[in-house]
Formats: sequence, C-alpha cells, structure tokens
Amino acid sequence: MPNQLIVALDVPNLDQARRTLDQLADTVRWFKVGLQLFTAAGPAVVRAVRARGARVFLDLKFHDIPNTVAGAAQSAAALGVEMFNVHASGGEAMMRAAAEAAARMGADRPLVIAVTILTSQTASEADVLSLARAAKTSGLDGVVCSAREAVTLRRELGADFKLVCPGIRPAWSETGDQKRIITPREAVQAGADYLVVGRPILASPSPAAAARRVLDEMHGG
Ligand code: C5P
Repeated sequence: MPNQLIVALDVPNLDQARRTLDQLADTVRWFKVGLQLFTAAGPAVVRAVRARGARVFLDLKFHDIPNTVAGAAQSAAALGVEMFNVHASGGEAMMRAAAEAAARMGADRPLVIAVTILTSQTASEADVLSLARAAKTSGLDGVVCSAREAVTLRRELGADFKLVCPGIRPAWSETGDQKRIITPREAVQAGADYLVVGRPILASPSPAAAARRVLDEMHGG
C-alpha cells in the first residue's frame, strides 16, 4: 500500500466530527480519533467514520496491566477500527497482550502501533529505538514517530514495520505549536508509511482542497 494520509479529527464533539467528515470523506481514507473526541462521543464517532467508508486510527494510547489492555484491544478490534495504539513503556507483556487480542480478529485485525516517548518529554534517539525494538519483538506492527526519526527506524526495524508520523506541516501552512516540523514530501522521502495531519487541513478555509494538496505533495505532484 502506498503511504497514506490520516487526518486527525481533533474536534470536540460528534456534530463537528460529522461536519468535518462531510467535507473530507470523499478525499481522505483515514481519520484519527483521539482522547478528546472519543471521550465526548464514544463509539458513535467510530461508526460515523466507518459509515462513510473511511478507516479509523483509534489514538487512545492504552497503558495498563496486560489483562486490561488485552480487553481494551479486543473492544477496539470489535468496534472495527483499522489501527490503535498502546504505550511501549507499558512493557513487552502488555504489548504482546494487545497484539494477541488484535490477532484474534484474523485477517481483518487492526494494526497495533506503539507510542515510544511522547514528544512533550525529552528522549534520546537510543531510548526511542530501544522501545521501538521492544514493540517489534512483542509483535506490534509499528510505531508513532517523528519523520525525522524515520530513516533510522526504517533501517533498524525493516521494511514492514509501520511508521506513523505526525508533526507534518506543508510549506504553505502555519506551523502552530509543532516545533520539529517536516513537509509531506520530506516525510514520505524519509520513509513514513502514514502521515498524520490535523490543523493544516482542519483549519484551512477549504479542508478538502488542503487535503488534496497534501496528497498531491505526498504522491509527487
Ligand atoms: O494539528 P496537527 O497536525 O499538529 O495534529 C497532529 C496530531 O497528531 C494531533 O492529534 C496530535 O495529538 C498528534 N500527535 C502529535 N505528535 C506526536 C504524537 C501525536 O502531534 N508526537
């Protein structure tokens, strides 16, 4: 599969999520549902995305004892999301429990992605790499990472390990609070499989046009 755009559905409620989906669902195939929207709207928002034929990355960053995370993973898989994530710092037993719960869905199983170290915390590349290695050993499919880390992670973890990269800013957009930004084209060249983009698309006067512009840049236009 070529690299994919995931639009972060960072809106506060189901009505706004529906309006955004109305604008974008013809253009964008993946949406990220995070803590704010899921806490407000719950599984209904996942169903709203799926009803428009798009895929869901459920970004709830599970982190608990293995048994509890296995249960959450099973619930996520049963909702029909195509990707969810867990904190690698929860440990290998926890990550393995999440991967096994997802695998029980068979061929339609969701991808299970690790968060290594939050970008709000300071981390060395060695720490990120060691957590990413633990994720791979535990049977996870990939990690969330900065596109700046993608070249190293790709080299160390192989071609099949999925790299999900936020912090993307097209040259024409506002940078906002993202500090170490990279353009869509640069992220693809660095080896990102999935580009997570929020405000450059959501805050644009024409979200669909902004999304098309990002996709063009990703795919060499
Ligand atoms: O609006 P923006 O493009 O910055 O949105 C990026 C999305 O990716 C947000 O939902 C943010 O929470 C998420 N994210 C991030 N940096 C990380 C991990 C996740 O920006 N390291």
